Amino acid sequence: LNNNLARTPPMGWLSWERFECNTDCMNDPDNCIGERLVKTIADAMVEKGFRDAGYTYVTLDDCWPARERDKQGRLQPDPLRFPNGIKYLADYLHSKGLKLGLYEDIGTHTCAGFPGTQGHWKLDAQTYADWGVDMIKFDGCNSDVQHYDMGFPLMAKYLNQTGRQILYSCEWPLYERAHGVKPNYTAVAEACNTFRVYGDIYDARQSIMSVVNWYGENPGGFLNVSGPGHWSDGDMITLGNYGLSHSEERTQIGMWAIFASPLLMSVDIRTINDKSRRLLQHRGVLSISQDSLGIPGRRILNMENGAIQVWVRPLAPRGTFAIATIYTNTFGYPIKVSTKLSDLGLKNPNGYNVTEVFDGIHRGEFRSNHNYTRMVKPTDIDLVLAKVL
Ligand code: DGJ
Repeated sequence: LNNNLARTPPMGWLSWERFECNTDCMNDPDNCIGERLVKTIADAMVEKGFRDAGYTYVTLDDCWPARERDKQGRLQPDPLRFPNGIKYLADYLHSKGLKLGLYEDIGTHTCAGFPGTQGHWKLDAQTYADWGVDMIKFDGCNSDVQHYDMGFPLMAKYLNQTGRQILYSCEWPLYERAHGVKPNYTAVAEACNTFRVYGDIYDARQSIMSVVNWYGENPGGFLNVSGPGHWSDGDMITLGNYGLSHSEERTQIGMWAIFASPLLMSVDIRTINDKSRRLLQHRGVLSISQDSLGIPGRRILNMENGAIQVWVRPLAPRGTFAIATIYTNTFGYPIKVSTKLSDLGLKNPNGYNVTEVFDGIHRGEFRSNHNYTRMVKPTDIDLVLAKVL
């Protein structure tokens, strides 16, 4: 979508994977979808350095609205959970240098059964603008499949007409595929700033790996249209929750940087452990994610039935590359991987200077036709920067 937003993959926080549809503010006031959650997460994002690392969008997923629209037909937040309304929250976030995102759905109802946008396109877009909302995540539940081609671009048009800069995050292709329709990714990229390409992420290695393999296969060529203003979206970053080991967390953040996918963390920022926090804020990884060339990485080698994969993302300045080698086995010992840089498309005769990203260790200088060798632990990633000499 050409609205000057998302020139690099958007970064922020999204409630869904960790906080789901918890509306029980009576018994769980700190974790229910409501004003307190947003404010305390925002405070923690500032205090713990997430905002300064670039994570600025704080987005409420499903379950924020009241069960009914107001008398004028406008959406309204649940009055008990959002006693001061949404504009108040947007002002609060803006005063801290953060941005507010909200979720809605193209259909009659959201996936969790709250009022959907169908029939209220223009009014809802205006309501978000009046509230000072900065991002809309637009879901595809409870709609007919023939509405998607009309509805997703229509919402883009009305958001644009408000004159407020609102980042537009779509689930359009995902729902088309669910209905057996092949997405037209060119049309999707024209209408949306980010677009989900795979099913809902969950807090486990299998989920991360199925996204990685989907990106590796790139069905329908969604990577071909992913770039500044319109990024493919592998779904939320789940680091810091319950299901991933440290190596798996390295793999997720490293691969999402290679994909040039949005980095929307779904974790309790207030209590996140330091090791996960450091990964999420790692400068080297974030500079790959946010690289100004805006070209997503590709899987170049897929060996041993996908157990060893080598991915390459070209970066600025020209002649710089991020290379990720992942070893997906869950048993055994570190494996030795040897590849010529030229086999990965790095063909400059001067050779390359190679540095590991997470620990900043210099690996040496390599001619493009010599073997470059690294050890990769099971479930881990080897992420390096190669710069032309
Ligand atoms: C389905 C989406 O894919 C999820 O990311 C989340 O938004 C839920 N719906 C909310 O109901």
